[in-house]
Amino acid sequence: MTIDTAASLGLRFERVTGTIGALVHGLELVPTRAAGAPDTLRCALHEFGVLFFEFDHAISAPEFLAFAQLFGEPEEKYKLTLARGEAPYIDSDPVPMKEFRVNVWHSDGTALECPPQSAMLTPVELPETGGDTLWASMYAAWEGLSSHYQSLLDGLDVLHSTARLPFLRESSTAVHPAVIRDPVTARKMLFVNSNYTERILGMSDRESEALLRMLFEHVNTPEFHVRLRWRPGVIAVWEERVTQHRGVADFVGPRKLRRLTFAGDRPRR
Ligand SMILES: [Fe+2]
Repeated sequence: MTIDTAASLGLRFERVTGTIGALVHGLELVPTRAAGAPDTLRCALHEFGVLFFEFDHAISAPEFLAFAQLFGEPEEKYKLTLARGEAPYIDSDPVPMKEFRVNVWHSDGTALECPPQSAMLTPVELPETGGDTLWASMYAAWEGLSSHYQSLLDGLDVLHSTARLPFLRESSTAVHPAVIRDPVTARKMLFVNSNYTERILGMSDRESEALLRMLFEHVNTPEFHVRLRWRPGVIAVWEERVTQHRGVADFVGPRKLRRLTFAGDRPRR
């Protein structure tokens, strides 16, 4: 699979930064399911990390569900969420996000043995201004480390848990490699995040904390990022391992986003 087939499907991917994110042109909101489009989009998702789609009106629930079919089977019950929601999609609580650690860099559900593979969002209700979402490339984060840190991290295992997120409906722990390889692009990526990663195994507490603190700060490097200003009619779809994301809690009033999560397999070296 490659994204070279895009042109023959009438699709065009416009990079929005040098490292992460592409705006997708040429796709209909209710797709005609052109043969090959799901494969091409999946390749692009792994390549660019996050894809943005712009349509001319706010996305209805049936349109959102139909569009999701291009990206796979939605996960019926995404357990590590605070929302109870109307399955299969969840509407976020329109409360200030500071309480819920969605405004720190994270990948979703990495305390699960099989964390989500990807997710999609569209706005339901937006503040007048603010409340953007950012994504960070974990390819870029890995490639931005010196060879010394890369050798130290590659091969390490890391404990992920819900200890910092006591408001989630369920608790969980899982051990994953600190560095994983994308099955589509074969590129390596950093796989630790400040919400779920608790400690690096095989190190003292002090060593683990110091290394994780450095990595969490490293993820917060603007060259790895793309920022989306939401407006009605926008859909964002991201690969959960290739990227991390965070909201920006700089708004007043309600901000409600509708979300679907796609099931994933076990992250591998
Ligand atoms: Fe999230």
